[in-house]
Amino acid sequence: MTTTPLSTTPPPLPAPALPSSLITTLPGHHYTDPGIFAREQERIFESLWFCAVRSGDLSGPGAYRTVQVGRENVVITRNRSGELRAFLNVCRHRGARLCTEEAGEVRRTLRCPYHAWSYDLDGALVAAPNLAKMPDIDRTAYGLRTVALREWLGYAWVCLADEPPSFEATVMGAAVERLGDTAAVERYRTEGLALGKRVSYDVKANWKLIVENFMECYHCATIHPELTYVLPEFARGYAAQYYVGHGAAFAEGAQGFTVDGGAGFDRLPGLAEDQDRRYYAVTVKPQVFINLVPDHVIVHRMFPMSHDRTVVECDWLYAPEVVEAGADVSRSVELFHRVNVQDFDACERTQPAMDSRAYRAGGVLVPSEHHIGAFHAWVTEQIA
Ligand code: FES
Ligand code: FE
Repeated sequence: MTTTPLSTTPPPLPAPALPSSLITTLPGHHYTDPGIFAREQERIFESLWFCAVRSGDLSGPGAYRTVQVGRENVVITRNRSGELRAFLNVCRHRGARLCTEEAGEVRRTLRCPYHAWSYDLDGALVAAPNLAKMPDIDRTAYGLRTVALREWLGYAWVCLADEPPSFEATVMGAAVERLGDTAAVERYRTEGLALGKRVSYDVKANWKLIVENFMECYHCATIHPELTYVLPEFARGYAAQYYVGHGAAFAEGAQGFTVDGGAGFDRLPGLAEDQDRRYYAVTVKPQVFINLVPDHVIVHRMFPMSHDRTVVECDWLYAPEVVEAGADVSRSVELFHRVNVQDFDACERTQPAMDSRAYRAGGVLVPSEHHIGAFHAWVTEQIA
C-alpha cells in the first residue's frame, strides 16, 4: 500500500508564555511509599468521581461488572428498569465478596456465595435462608451499601464519598478548562459510539508517572515517531494542553489518524468544522484521558492497584455503523496502541529509579512541562 508522504513542516503554533526557571518534581518516595499511596486511595480515588465502566458493557438487567476503586471493590449492575446502580461489593451478613467475577450476568438477584443472602438489583435484601425464623433481622437495614453513580460520555462514574463533590465542577469542568465548554466534547456523542477495540495494559508504574507522561509532549519527538508523523507540531515538545480549545492539526499529507497517515472513516456527525483534521486531548483528574479525533474517540481509564502497579484500560470508540459493518479498525487502533506501549515502557523505565538516592529530592520540570507542577500541587493538596 502506498500513502502520500506527510508534511514535515509543523503548523504555526502560538508561543506559550512560559516561566524561564526550572521547578522540581515530587520527591521520589511519592512514587514508592505504600503509605502515600494509601492516602491517595482514601483522599483521591475514594473521594472523587472515578470513571468505572462503559455503560454499554452492561447490556441489560442483571449484567454486572466489578471494579477496584481505591481500596474498595464496587459492583455496578443494571436494574429491572434499565438504570445503572453501584454498590460496595460486600455482603452485609458476614462480609464476603458478593460478586467474585470481573463481569457476569444474574437473572434477578445478586446472591452471596457464602450463606446465600440475596439482594435485588436495587440492592435490597430480598431473601436469606431461614430469614423467617430470624425476626430480629431488619431486611431494610441490611441492603447493599449504595455508591453514587453518574453517566457521562457513555461511561458510569462512581463516587464513594458520603457527600460527592459536584460532578459538573470536577468532571465536566475538566472539559471546560481544556476545550472551553462541554459541548466541544459532547459533540462527539461518545455515548452513542460503539466499542471497536479494548486493550488492557498492566503497567508496572505508579499512577502519577502515567498522568505526568500523558500531560507532557516533551518526550513525543523521542519516543513517538508514528504520532509525530501524523501530528507534526507534537515534535516541538509542547503539549496541546497549553492552549484552551487548541486542537493539534493533522499533517498536510495525513488523511486520517492512523498508524501510517492513511484514510480513516467518515467524520462523526455533529462535529464542528474546526474539529475536523484535529486532535484534542482532555485529562479528567484523577484517572481518565480522552483523545478526540474526527472519526473516533479513545478513552483511557486508569485503575491504580498498588504504589507501583496501574492497570490502564483503553477503549477505541467508533460510529456504530463502522463497528456493525465489521470495518477494519486496526490501523487507527495501532497508532494509539503504539503510543500507549511507548508511553508505558517509559513509565516502567522510570519507576525503579524513584527509589534511587539520586531521585530523593525529585527531578526537574523544564518549562514546557511546568503545567505538571500544577498536577503535583493538586495531588499534594488532596492528601495533605
Ligand atoms: Fe454473605 Fe453470609 S457472608 S451470606
Ligand atoms: Fe506519550
